[in-house]
Amino acid sequence: MIEMTNLLHGGDYNPEQWLDSPKILTKDIQYMKEAKINTVSLGIFSWSALEPEEGHYTFDWMEKIINRLYENGISVILATPSASKPKWMTDRYPEILRVDETRHRNLYGFRHNHCYTSPVYREKIAMINTELVKRFGHHPAVILWHISNEFGGECHCPLCQQAFRKWLKDRYHTIDELNKGWCTTFWSHTYQSFDQIESPSPRGEMALQGLTLAWKRFVSDQTLDYVKHEIKSIREAGSKLPVTMNMMYDFEGLNYYKFADCLDVISWDTYPTWHKYPDKFIAMDNGMQHDIMRSVKKKPFLLMESCPSSTNWQSVSKLKKPGLLEAASLQAVAHGSNSVLYFQIRQSRGGFEKFHGAVIDHYGGNDTRVFQEVKKTGEDLLALNELTQTVMKSEAAVIYDWENRWAMEGSAGPRNKGMFYKETAEKSYAAFRRQGLNVDLLDMEQELDDYKIVAAPMLYMFRAGFEEKIRAFVEKGGTFIMTYWSGIVDENDRCFLGGTPHQLMDVMGLRSTEIDGLYDGETNHLIPEKKAGFLQKKSYQCEHLCELLKVDSAEILMTYGEDFYRGTPAVTVNRFGKGKAYYIGADVEQICYDDLYRYAISETTIQMPVEGGIPEGVEVTTRVSKEHEYVLVQNFNQEAVHMDLPEGECLVGDASDALPAFGTVVIKR
Ligand code: GLA
Ligand code: ZN
Repeated sequence: MIEMTNLLHGGDYNPEQWLDSPKILTKDIQYMKEAKINTVSLGIFSWSALEPEEGHYTFDWMEKIINRLYENGISVILATPSASKPKWMTDRYPEILRVDETRHRNLYGFRHNHCYTSPVYREKIAMINTELVKRFGHHPAVILWHISNEFGGECHCPLCQQAFRKWLKDRYHTIDELNKGWCTTFWSHTYQSFDQIESPSPRGEMALQGLTLAWKRFVSDQTLDYVKHEIKSIREAGSKLPVTMNMMYDFEGLNYYKFADCLDVISWDTYPTWHKYPDKFIAMDNGMQHDIMRSVKKKPFLLMESCPSSTNWQSVSKLKKPGLLEAASLQAVAHGSNSVLYFQIRQSRGGFEKFHGAVIDHYGGNDTRVFQEVKKTGEDLLALNELTQTVMKSEAAVIYDWENRWAMEGSAGPRNKGMFYKETAEKSYAAFRRQGLNVDLLDMEQELDDYKIVAAPMLYMFRAGFEEKIRAFVEKGGTFIMTYWSGIVDENDRCFLGGTPHQLMDVMGLRSTEIDGLYDGETNHLIPEKKAGFLQKKSYQCEHLCELLKVDSAEILMTYGEDFYRGTPAVTVNRFGKGKAYYIGADVEQICYDDLYRYAISETTIQMPVEGGIPEGVEVTTRVSKEHEYVLVQNFNQEAVHMDLPEGECLVGDASDALPAFGTVVIKR
């Protein structure tokens, strides 16, 4: 088995598409070795090659390939094949096909088009997983189980309706509790029993927000239940190897934080639209997703998929400019990944992904630009293997909560044309990152003890005792930053009475009285008070939402510049216990966040990782081992930049000169 003391390099490999071309399979391994590839993911879409007829397993081809990979020092991440099923299965058991929200059963096709509740589907996958464990679970090449592939979607079949009702009963116990939580007297929607409840449908109920929120929670929990079922089948068959599932970019459908306990390793697939906007913005956005993944378990994660070249399912298949593949790959490592894996090793000849980028393309040679960049990245990873002994520590955190998002985006008002939750969270994130801080992204259930500064943008819903956590955090000396539209509803999406932000009005030193939705293109301005000299501009533009505040003990830092609330407070700070609580009342431009957060950080005991400032478009992250700190500096500008780099041993890049476009320097100190 390849030691986990190596960063993994490789990706999805689909030899089942090439079984009639043994020469190609031999070449693949030669090329993998040349590109410093040490790991491949196998079997993700192999179900019909592994079980061509019901109960008839054909694993010999896979065994040959695993053996050959092993002989060549290449490890295997072995997938369970449930992402896509054989045709015979739906012909014999049509009830495994999904039913859509209009209550129509789907036909066979695409992938993940099956019901996660279905006992037949669960039985079929448990059977093949058991066989896979028996045959390969103790093979020295196999290092990790890859459960299915990119879970998502929902099913409204009768079995799922039953499961939903049971889920509701477990959560609410009595129908009265449910009616109360969902405020069903509104529009006369009171239920008499759990059996009457149906999942949301455009042909039926879509307006009962307690129901739509519960359904989202159920779909996420039912998917988790399915994942646990697959893991159980692997454990019962006798494998103790770690398990992962590959997650997706900003995937709204599943609350990934709830998957932390059942997975040993978090992994995810990244496909940014590089070069569509200035790459520094894309890098910031992609960095936030890496940090979400790391924060789910607060442990290093794996980059399971990324594209070596252009991605064919996006609206435009843009090539990565020279150097970007290496920069994007090392960005994952900078944010806590212990791997750089691609989709895919060899480009498929036909089918939907025949034009998707790959390490080896249809031409089939190693003298391509892409192959050479993959190889270069492989060499970098070899130089960075000691990073497998590190962790990432963050003193700053942003709360980014899935259930909050479901509830806020599922509500009517105050702005149905877009609330911009992710974009707002990203403003806080970017403001921390521009100072070079590592940032964790937490949901409301995680603890805050590790942090010195915490931002909670648009925390519409308070759940999991969040109010008490924040009160204790600030009391003990933490710095807390909250924005407009926070502390409005409870976990059932039922409005709090008696003023907002709920139970934090004394901590924030104010009450939010009203919120103004702005039309697209409409703006207001925030004007700094004289004493807030750390705010460098005379006025900052805001849009979308402006909250009106009634200040009590808080100190006013900015006021509104226009409209009938001109001159009233917009940004404040309050001292509470040993800490400080800032409030941002409007959707203000990034630079205002940058100025405010720079100051707020400077008032804490947080040490900056580099001195002399960080140029725009440059990312600084740190990973630490018992003995060393590793500072990773990356330039996401299309031109070189100069900056003062920390002293130390340079593991990758050249620290003596300017940082080239898409250049990376890794310094050990
Ligand atoms: C996803 C899937 C892969 C492949 C890639 C293509 O991430 O997991 O199987 O389809 O997209 O970008
Ligand atoms: Zn179903």
